[in-house]
Amino acid sequence: MKNNLIAPSLLAADFGNLQRDIEMINNSEADWFHIDIMDGVFVPNISYGMPVLAAIQKHAKKTIDIHLMIVDPDRYIKEFAALGANNLSVHYEACTHLHRTLQAIKAEGMKAGVAINPHTPVELLEDVIADIDLVCMMSVNPGFGGQSFIENTYKKIEKLKQIIERNNAPTLIEIDGGVTDKNAAQLIDAGADVLVAGSFVFKAEDPTQTIKNLKSLVNS
Ligand code: DX5
Ligand code: ZN
Repeated sequence: MKNNLIAPSLLAADFGNLQRDIEMINNSEADWFHIDIMDGVFVPNISYGMPVLAAIQKHAKKTIDIHLMIVDPDRYIKEFAALGANNLSVHYEACTHLHRTLQAIKAEGMKAGVAINPHTPVELLEDVIADIDLVCMMSVNPGFGGQSFIENTYKKIEKLKQIIERNNAPTLIEIDGGVTDKNAAQLIDAGADVLVAGSFVFKAEDPTQTIKNLKSLVNS
């Protein structure tokens, strides 16, 4: 049986009712909590930081998947591990010594992820692919929820899948940005393993049912 994963992004949650929204995910068919950390430097937006993450962690009962949109992420690897992160993704474009950063993430017991911007070619990952547990492929420009999906992503997924297979790497492909019920199945067909969905889940009338529908679309 296929087990492709759905990771709702808390960026689109109602922050005034954060615990309620976390419990909704706990009780849904969602697999991971996707948590976007933005520093206002790497991306033109600031989301939330350590105190909010600590509060989320207290209630979240599923894998905590952190997407760092910050410069010089090495500074905070130990702190994210201490806050209960399971997966930690850094941006390719923000790392001068990516290989070293990935080792540092793993040394703290987390899965090591690399996020890539829409303009970054997947070929740049070939020489480090065996060390990457997760590629977070941006299908919008990072910084904001609710943007439209960039169609070129399908091609990039197919190319990345070939690189993963050629190298016998364990890497999962996660797609982040503009995911809806219109593109979910096609993304999985192209080779994706995990779909992040923010607005589509949290702006829906019935988020729990929306997650259930997405889950069945990606596993049909
Ligand atoms: C964008 C973030 C995404 C965002 C996705 O910078 O990385 O995780 O929350 O939101 P939607 O699904 O609304 O595009
Ligand atoms: Zn994200």
